[in-house]
Amino acid sequence: MTKDPDAITDTVTEAELRAGHNLDHEVAPEDVIQLIGMNKWYGDFHVLRDINLNVHKGERIVICGPSGSGKSTMIRCINRLEEHQAGQIIVDGVELTNDLKNIDKIRREVGMCFQHFNLFPHLTILENCTLAPMWVRKESKAEAEERAMHYLERVKIPEQAHKFPGQLSGGQQQRVAIARSLCMQPKIMLFDEPTSALDPEMIKEVLDTMVQLAEEGMTMLCVTHEMGFAKTVADRVIFMAEGQIVEENEPHEFFNNPQEERTQEFLSQIIGH
Ligand SMILES: Nc1ncnc2c1ncn2[C@@H]1O[C@H](COP(=O)(O)OP(=O)(O)OP(=O)(O)O)[C@@H](O)[C@H]1O
Ligand SMILES: [Mg+2]
Repeated sequence: MTKDPDAITDTVTEAELRAGHNLDHEVAPEDVIQLIGMNKWYGDFHVLRDINLNVHKGERIVICGPSGSGKSTMIRCINRLEEHQAGQIIVDGVELTNDLKNIDKIRREVGMCFQHFNLFPHLTILENCTLAPMWVRKESKAEAEERAMHYLERVKIPEQAHKFPGQLSGGQQQRVAIARSLCMQPKIMLFDEPTSALDPEMIKEVLDTMVQLAEEGMTMLCVTHEMGFAKTVADRVIFMAEGQIVEENEPHEFFNNPQEERTQEFLSQIIGH
């Protein structure tokens, strides 16, 4: 039996196309976040200056820098908790403008976890996790609870589901905050110093949760001074000072061969203490 090689190629091509495979191997990775010449002011104060940043799908980025350098402000601009005044922010192909529909769309894709967990104290852990899926995504209670339990298991505290936040340790509450974000099934997670308010013995359990999330391929932007985490998990470390991205590199080069004086000074301070 003879086969027509062209026919085989055609079949494979069609199958691959059907599977959504991109046959062009030169195509650049998909950028899920793009900051293009982004600037922000608080009144007269120019807090973010010409920020350019592209984040690929699945990329893990750690952002560090001195207090007041604009790390939180930059992170908060990405889901419009703060408004930028110049340049562009594009998240998953949608540009952030005053269009409320776009803001809504982006917030559904972007989960956020802060230093302070902001759980509702009068709701149980389970209720904290099901509130947004039920009200924003219009999920049924059963569906929302099933997913909440799935993520509470992932962060290793399913047994706490029926307690109130005040009955949990800080590390446990922060893991609930991460599970709560995941219940909205975000494509991107933003972390702003999620371990800095925790007692030292609780930092590891939260970092372990974040490492697990990273290993599962979540696109993550983390403001943190946990340099061990940066070294093991980050694809790229970004150093900010005075509202600018001063330097960025893959972790090994960033820590062993910092180019800018301000980066060297910062690293010597955090490694020194
Ligand atoms: N709502 C606000 N109004 C006016 N100025 C603000 C506001 N929020 C922050 N700032 C100022 O903007 C600058 C950047 O603040 P931001 O919180 O982004 O810094 P950061 O790098 O996150 O610092 P830290 O490491 O202390 O968290 C600081 O000088 C801060 O005082
Ligand atoms: Mg901050």
